[in-house]
Amino acid sequence: EAYDAGEHDSFMHKELLEQPACAEAVLRGRLDERFGTGHLGGLNLDARELRAIRRVKILGCGSAYYVGQMGASLIEELARIPADAEAASEFRYRNPIVEPDTLYVAVSQSGETIDTLLAVQEIQRKGGRVIGLVNVVGSAIARQVDGGIYLHSGPEVAVASTKALTNMFLAFGMLAVQLGRVRDLSIADGKRLIAGLTRIPEQIDQVLATEADLALVAKRLAEAESLFFIGRVRGFPVAREGAQKFKEITYRHAEAYQTSELKHGPLALISPEVPTVAIVPDDELVERNVAALHEIAARGGPLVVITHESVDLGDLEGIVAGRIDVPRNERELDPILLTIPLQVLAYHAALELGHDIDKPRNLAKSVTVE
Ligand code: G6P
Repeated sequence: EAYDAGEHDSFMHKELLEQPACAEAVLRGRLDERFGTGHLGGLNLDARELRAIRRVKILGCGSAYYVGQMGASLIEELARIPADAEAASEFRYRNPIVEPDTLYVAVSQSGETIDTLLAVQEIQRKGGRVIGLVNVVGSAIARQVDGGIYLHSGPEVAVASTKALTNMFLAFGMLAVQLGRVRDLSIADGKRLIAGLTRIPEQIDQVLATEADLALVAKRLAEAESLFFIGRVRGFPVAREGAQKFKEITYRHAEAYQTSELKHGPLALISPEVPTVAIVPDDELVERNVAALHEIAARGGPLVVITHESVDLGDLEGIVAGRIDVPRNERELDPILLTIPLQVLAYHAALELGHDIDKPRNLAKSVTVE
């Protein structure tokens, strides 16, 4: 059956709206509610092998790299294993140390990105073990890795990744819980997180239902030549992915920064012409994040705040250019729900500017040459 955009103006719009159903697909059959764990058969690793992992290294390019950073946070928080993500395009050029007790994770929608594939081969040449988080079944990376998790997003045509990226996050969620449950994560916490993962498809649907409001905010953002996207800790990869999506399809200069680092440089650029999209979840950093928003407002910088209903913005309430409340989940899983409105903002800003949303200039869906 031919895959076309149907009644949508672009594949990106179709794929945005497919996310709740796709999210269900990646979770289906992989959640063990009774023992509060993930059930990821394709890893080809038994409980003893999972317990022996001392470090996790995640590799991907573009959006897959940013979601890899979200995944690293999940693994550190839930499994208490040191984890980090790196651009796969850099990895093989720095004579990387490959250790037998590190689990390497290659993340790729297409499974064909040459930089990611060559990173996998470099690890394997040095005796390391790699699992894949891949969407396209039978792709080069899927064939090369030692095990993995298929993303079950279905075909993704738009260059700007939406539904595959969401499923990458959910796959990391399941992996982190499974790694945690063979270590110190309690059954109660495991059940809490499995229940949280189960709620996500419906909550994505709730975010997508606010599309008309997001479109109004996007129109205002489309006017700016340059924007900041800020967040910290769990929110920072969300900001990076938000900036990536925005620059890819609107051709505006969108720069991601840690909220905490604003005062060490970028504040100099804040002005009424430079809006900031701030990720402000209701978590342990909320007060500090709101304080940073005051710094921006004091310099006349327009603010769009992606947050939770429970967050009190105080005096800022009357001056923010847009406030978007997303549904709350477990704190660890919030990043994906904070990411969805950024996809919608980028899409509507690009639509407003009249760009080719599915095929932005100079970019390819999968980069298969070095
Ligand atoms: C290209 C695309 C990006 C994408 C990246 C990784 O650069 O323009 O949108 O995130 O490749 O693609 P992959 O298929 O490996 O996830």
